[in-house]
Amino acid sequence: MSAKLAVAVIGANGRLGRFACELLRGSSEFELVAAYGRGDDWGASIGASGARVAFEATVAGQGARHGLALLGVGVRPLIATSGVTAAENEELDRAARERGLGGLVVPNFSLGSILMQLFAVQAAKHFAEAEIVEGHHPRKKDAPSGTALETARRMAIARGDDPECREPGREPARGERVGGTTIHSLRLSGLYAHQEVVLAGPGETLTLRHDMSGPAAFAPGIAAALRYAARCDGVARGLELALFA
Ligand SMILES: NC(=O)c1ccc[n+]([C@@H]2O[C@H](COP(=O)([O-])OP(=O)(O)OC[C@H]3O[C@@H](n4cnc5c(N)ncnc54)[C@H](OP(=O)(O)O)[C@@H]3O)[C@@H](O)[C@H]2O)c1
Repeated sequence: MSAKLAVAVIGANGRLGRFACELLRGSSEFELVAAYGRGDDWGASIGASGARVAFEATVAGQGARHGLALLGVGVRPLIATSGVTAAENEELDRAARERGLGGLVVPNFSLGSILMQLFAVQAAKHFAEAEIVEGHHPRKKDAPSGTALETARRMAIARGDDPECREPGREPARGERVGGTTIHSLRLSGLYAHQEVVLAGPGETLTLRHDMSGPAAFAPGIAAALRYAARCDGVARGLELALFA
């Protein structure tokens, strides 16, 4: 029998981190070798933990800094945290390649979510107008969600618009415009994670909708992404690389 893939979790006391720890503890393929919460000096000990890959799920905006620190100690980052920019992703890629390492940035581990994004990208080539309505539980700290931003940016690239262009909605109650797509964020206690992309052309609309009711939807994507991060060169972005490459 081949050895299990050794994985550390950073942000192990958070919602996603706890789920990842449970998944790894119950797995015959992966071994949880270290779990770090806020305040733990993981930079000092993770290199010696035996972890080949670190699952990073902390605070939006911190993922790239943590990823670079992990690469610095020879551990491959799988960054789940929202907010890694394209420029940061390139920096991570360069740093990994310089060290002969790899990793992956995955804004959303759900299969349904990535399929919805891929379908939205196809549709964006044919429909000039689009808006996204995303809904999450009120404990979510960032808005719009990383998935909504990623969807809007991918659609902008498909249409030839600037994916990094962010501006307030044209009217105060009309969301934030990202790469030409307006995003509306709902934060309500009855919601878990939901996204609707509504595309429109003359006389018609096309609605793509994805709903998650719990973290179980992340499990196959996390497993595929860990396997991919353990073997790839450089740090790319997107679950589709792990699922379909
Ligand atoms: N890729 C995906 O599919 C996916 C899915 C869900 C969520 N996310 C993203 O993943 C991130 C975490 O989400 P969540 O819902 O788990 O958030 P959460 O419940 O707030 O958990 C984050 C955890 O990270 C801890 N933390 C903060 N800084 C840390 C550090 N330097 N070292 C170790 N731990 C640290 C926090 O501690 P404190 O509580 O003390 O601050 C908290 O326990 C967010 O950016 C979220 O948007 C991604």
